[in-house]
Amino acid sequence: MNKEGGLFKNEDALDTEWLPKNLPYREQQHQQIANCIKPLLQSRNGRNCIISGAPGIGKTAAVKLVLKELEEHPDVNAPDIEILYVNCWQKNTTYKIFIELCEQLGYKFVQNKNTEDLFKIIQNIVNKKAAVFAFDEIDKVEDADFLYHIFTEVYKKTLLLITNHPQWYFTVDERIRSRLLPEKIDFKAYTPQEITGILKQRCEYAFSYDAWDANAFNMIVDKTAATGDLRLGLHLLREAGMAAEEQNTRKITIAHSQAALSKLTDFTIKPEESLSPDAKTILALVKAQSGKMGDLYKLYQDQGGAGTYKTFQRRVEELNAGGFIEAKKVIGGKDGTTTLLSGKNKSLDEY
Ligand SMILES: Nc1ncnc2c1ncn2[C@@H]1O[C@H](COP(=O)(O)OP(=O)(O)OP(=O)(O)O)[C@@H](O)[C@H]1O
Ligand SMILES: [Mg+2]
Repeated sequence: MNKEGGLFKNEDALDTEWLPKNLPYREQQHQQIANCIKPLLQSRNGRNCIISGAPGIGKTAAVKLVLKELEEHPDVNAPDIEILYVNCWQKNTTYKIFIELCEQLGYKFVQNKNTEDLFKIIQNIVNKKAAVFAFDEIDKVEDADFLYHIFTEVYKKTLLLITNHPQWYFTVDERIRSRLLPEKIDFKAYTPQEITGILKQRCEYAFSYDAWDANAFNMIVDKTAATGDLRLGLHLLREAGMAAEEQNTRKITIAHSQAALSKLTDFTIKPEESLSPDAKTILALVKAQSGKMGDLYKLYQDQGGAGTYKTFQRRVEELNAGGFIEAKKVIGGKDGTTTLLSGKNKSLDEY
């Protein structure tokens, strides 16, 4: 792959974690997020916000881009700002979040420390400067006490809370809500024209010049626009590219897009009942228990699942693309790169 003269120029640009230099159509939200942080640059307390919207529409990417700019271009006249980002799917309790924050702040001696001790360490470090705390997938937390601690005991901070479910906020303890009073930043669905623009930009990064037949590309845009989730678009671009590559062709054509789409159709247009028995078993497993792909594979084997890890991965990919489950790659965590799996919208369906 990525070889001279190949269809792919930089396949990494199709990873959902890959961050483009700018996010077209999200300039306004980018500015709103940056405005929440701005007071910190003037030694004042920052503003807090809840960033919400459907899956795959640029919330995480927009926040990460703002944080990256802050990190790479610090204002020399402004106070030092600690930039902290936690995915609460992975770190879903106050204790785990504090451990993570300590580690990000460079404090290593976290063993045998309780939640209170850990917070004192965090407080000590960040109160000498200012801090931005971004909590992604905030609705996945089991307790929100950490917000109370941070809000009341860190002097100069901005809290960015990111979620698919803005209703989550109303489930939070009143004593937190009455203090936090976050600004709401809405991410609306992209229009088909915007999806075209975004996928075009990704193609320029990822594929060689002229790799795509226009109609083949449009098929993928149409499918992505139907769901609104750009992750699906990136997945389909890669799959079609790979289908073309397998045939050693110089162009990605309608047939390759069709091949990419046909892998999905079983899962997107049919209801759960029509899944293969193996896919159903895996779906039930993931719905019952969120966790790391490797751990769930072991569970699957323990329950008599006969597929290889590769087959398991493939099923998971299909279930994810079909919207039955959520799969997220986490890069550079404690265990290296892992994929986390969870039943779709499980935790907040009731609200
Ligand atoms: N305006 C845009 N320009 C370029 N790429 C974009 C844009 N919006 C989203 N993307 C890309 O789409 C993918 C999904 O976006 P992102 O991960 O930010 O979704 P999200 O809104 O955080 O979804 P979720 O709620 O499921 O976490 C990422 O690869 C991101 O870079
Ligand atoms: Mg996200």
